Amino acid sequence: MSKLSEKVMSINESPIRKLAPLARAAREAGKRVIALNIGQPDVPTPAEYFEAIKKVDTSVVAYTDSNGIDEMKNAFADYYKKNNMPFENQDILITAGGSEALLFSYACLCDEGDEIIVFEPFYTNYKSLARLVGAKVVPVRCVVENEFRLPDKSEVEKAITPRTKALMVTNPNNPTGVVLGKEEMDMLTRVALEHDLFIISDEVYREYVYGAKWLSFTDYPEINDRLIVIDSVSKRYSGCGIRIGCLASKNRSVIANALKLCQARLSVPLVEQLGAAALFKTGDDYIKYCHDEYEKRRDVLVEGMAKIQGAKFIKPCGAFYLITALPVDNSEEFAKWLLTDFTYEGETVTLCPAADFYATEGLGLNEVRISYCLCCEDLARALNIIALGVKEYNRLKGN
Ligand SMILES: Cc1ncc(COP(=O)(O)O)c(C=O)c1O
Repeated sequence: MSKLSEKVMSINESPIRKLAPLARAAREAGKRVIALNIGQPDVPTPAEYFEAIKKVDTSVVAYTDSNGIDEMKNAFADYYKKNNMPFENQDILITAGGSEALLFSYACLCDEGDEIIVFEPFYTNYKSLARLVGAKVVPVRCVVENEFRLPDKSEVEKAITPRTKALMVTNPNNPTGVVLGKEEMDMLTRVALEHDLFIISDEVYREYVYGAKWLSFTDYPEINDRLIVIDSVSKRYSGCGIRIGCLASKNRSVIANALKLCQARLSVPLVEQLGAAALFKTGDDYIKYCHDEYEKRRDVLVEGMAKIQGAKFIKPCGAFYLITALPVDNSEEFAKWLLTDFTYEGETVTLCPAADFYATEGLGLNEVRISYCLCCEDLARALNIIALGVKEYNRLKGN
């Protein structure tokens, strides 16, 4: 039997999704499972989306232009204009979510063996997507003791090699919730310029910042030609299943070459683009509602986690995640056990084991990432289950 590629065999299953079969089995066994493993908000998608897709009037659902339909590109372009970001229709490629924009960015910048610097812990899929194009993520460590802030410029520079192509930045951050400050942005901009690197800026949580000031790398015109912005409607409009995002860059060569990848996969869905374009007509009160709701949920989570002895985390300032150590020897075993062996009042919880949010072997083994985009009642119940579960798990283990 011929072997599968080294590339695909070396990719780990996503820690966000790999416990799904256990969660399904728990549900089938009649348990209610609260999903803290995934960034899938429970806020309804705006009505504008559903109205637009109901109005679709075509006898053939055709391919669209590979870079997306004009309505969709213009929707992003108008949004950027409103946010004082310089991208116009021609700087935007519509992709299947931010995920495809990430993949195309890596494919544009990296040859086999090239490197992308990531700030650890980082969004786990960066590792898999980089691996898919033969590239490797090189971690620069951020630690909870330093509030997951970026280390000094010299530490970042230590990770640079002749194979380094880009700095991968997530702002606001998943999983840490950090929002970069001006000094950190200045530093990364200097590193990119001095070492001739691209910055890939993943800003899919741009709207969800609590009490901090959010800045974009588009505020630094000197790196215009080395900046790729990753965007998506998934989180902004609670439309994760719509699968529409974009890659935006002022670098003509990036756009021209990423377009070839868009052409190779032909097009993204017509109907979803029409629906997603309509999302941008949603009033600002929708985003304000989500923002305030997520902030409230963040507070419920932080308050509850503080009562779990041995939990180690920071109060997130953005996005809707928290990463924490738990007082268990192995968080993946604990997360599995919660699904297979533990319930409280007929309920249990899916957690996301966090080791795969690190590239350094051995880190994050007792950590979990918690997504707090579920309603406060579910979060409060889930926190109780985690607290009781930790006690029972350690009792059974004799710890
Ligand atoms: C930081 C970050 N970037 C990108 C994505 C990709 O999202 P999508 O492909 O749904 O746009 C996610 C999804 O969770 C994310 O958390």
